Amino acid sequence: MGEMYTTHAEKYADVIENNAYNGLYERPSTLALVGNVSNKTLLDLGCGPGVYAEYFVRSGAKVTAVDLSEQMVELTKKRLGDTVTCYAQDLLLGLPKEKTASFDCVVCPLMIHYIEDLVPFFKEIRRVLKKGGMFIFSTHHPLIDFEDDGFSNYYQVERITEDWDTVGQPVEVSFFRRSFTNLFDSLHEGGFVLNKFSEGSPSPEMKTTAPDVYEKLSRRPNFIFVRAEAR
Ligand SMILES: C[S@@+](CC[C@H](N)C(=O)[O-])C[C@H]1O[C@@H](n2cnc3c(N)ncnc32)[C@H](O)[C@@H]1O
Repeated sequence: MGEMYTTHAEKYADVIENNAYNGLYERPSTLALVGNVSNKTLLDLGCGPGVYAEYFVRSGAKVTAVDLSEQMVELTKKRLGDTVTCYAQDLLLGLPKEKTASFDCVVCPLMIHYIEDLVPFFKEIRRVLKKGGMFIFSTHHPLIDFEDDGFSNYYQVERITEDWDTVGQPVEVSFFRRSFTNLFDSLHEGGFVLNKFSEGSPSPEMKTTAPDVYEKLSRRPNFIFVRAEAR
């Protein structure tokens, strides 16, 4: 894993709390698909600094939050204490601590693009979800990544390495670009059926707080948002 979510974890946490892309576009668009979580058992995968987990705890869910980065796990524990179960786990190795059919809902915002082969990952999520349970995730828009990447083959899963300025200095981040076909075939093979799809929309308050970003996101999506049901 790159340094964005380890060395720069605290700075990353500060930035995403209220910025335009996360606070006023990605989170509201993901949460619109999550809906009411009161009294639900919820698994937050790639929880980062716990901004989502805090929202879910406050909304009355019983939350388990997991991240590869020890720094992110510490930030989530600092934020939420014992109101959340939070531990470090490389999700490439699955969820060995979690029982089969134990969650009503799995939420995984902005994380699946760090995984090359989604099928085993989705199968593991299906295993821990109850039948009819919901899996909600957001990820990079396949066409936006492809546009940025220029001359590659859209149909292949490709590793892209870029410098991101998220934390006020360039930090190298590596992730996987994939086609819509790869994404939805993987979901199907993983045991899910699509329940709702969206390309999100910027919150109206962004019009005044970040008008340039609002204008851009109103014309051109940056992420996709998926709700899938465990078959
Ligand atoms: C862009 S951040 C998103 C954080 C949080 N979901 C949010 O939206 O606020 C991606 C997170 O995924 C975690 N991550 C990346 N690869 C992972 C893996 N193999 N297993 C578990 N977590 C991983 C990173 O450590 C990071 O905290």
